Amino acid sequence: MMRIIKSIKYKYWRLKNRNKFLRLGKYSFINIPLKIDGAQNIEINDFVTIGAYSWIAALPLTGHECKLIFGKGSVIGNFNHIYATKRITLGEKVLTADKVYISDNLHGYDRIDIAIMDQPVKQVAEVVIGDGSWLGENVCIIGASVGKNCIIGANSVVTRDIPDYSIAVGAPAKIIKRYCLKENIWKKSTPEGVII
Ligand SMILES: CC(C)(COP(=O)(O)OP(=O)(O)OC[C@H]1O[C@@H](n2cnc3c(N)ncnc32)[C@H](O)[C@@H]1OP(=O)(O)O)[C@@H](O)C(=O)NCCC(=O)NCCS
Repeated sequence: MMRIIKSIKYKYWRLKNRNKFLRLGKYSFINIPLKIDGAQNIEINDFVTIGAYSWIAALPLTGHECKLIFGKGSVIGNFNHIYATKRITLGEKVLTADKVYISDNLHGYDRIDIAIMDQPVKQVAEVVIGDGSWLGENVCIIGASVGKNCIIGANSVVTRDIPDYSIAVGAPAKIIKRYCLKENIWKKSTPEGVII
């Protein structure tokens, strides 16, 4: 019975939303979206699942052309908040846990005579999350990129780029392990990513 309800929900959602997005790939589905802003700028490739109560947005608030891309086979957790004002790209088979925040912008705070919420949104660096990477629970990615097959530990805040095949943890996130391509194992590293 549950499977039938799920299947009807999936088919109904796809039918209702098939022309809303820049692209909605085959078998992709958003389960109970909290909010979708700028669907015409959002490209969802094939086999993508986005968990419940997530807010995804691609709005050109900083005057740039804006795009949010979900790569093929990515799985996005519940309560994710992903907000692009220029470009955020999630590669193929990216996995995010619950309550992950990804953004390429900030609230401007240059002035102190105006509430921050009334100041213009500020563009920071574009974000790329590399193929095969995993973002743990409560991770925040703010104007920085993560390489391929990386792990970002639970509760980490990423504000600097993380290279391919790294494990990074903490706020701000620091690299703790890199994959050694010579020995084919993960090894401890300096916070800059040099294998020890
Ligand atoms: C990042 C993670 C994968 C590391 O696992 P691991 O390779 O087994 O790492 P280790 O246990 O060897 O830890 C290495 C060091 O990093 C620290 N560390 C690990 N995860 C951390 C985190 N999230 N934040 C801060 N420090 C962390 C450990 O305490 C340890 O410190 P020490 O060397 O001073 O003792 C794991 O801790 C994690 O955060 N997983 C995410 C879980 C999650 O969010 N799941 C959601 C389901 S999709």
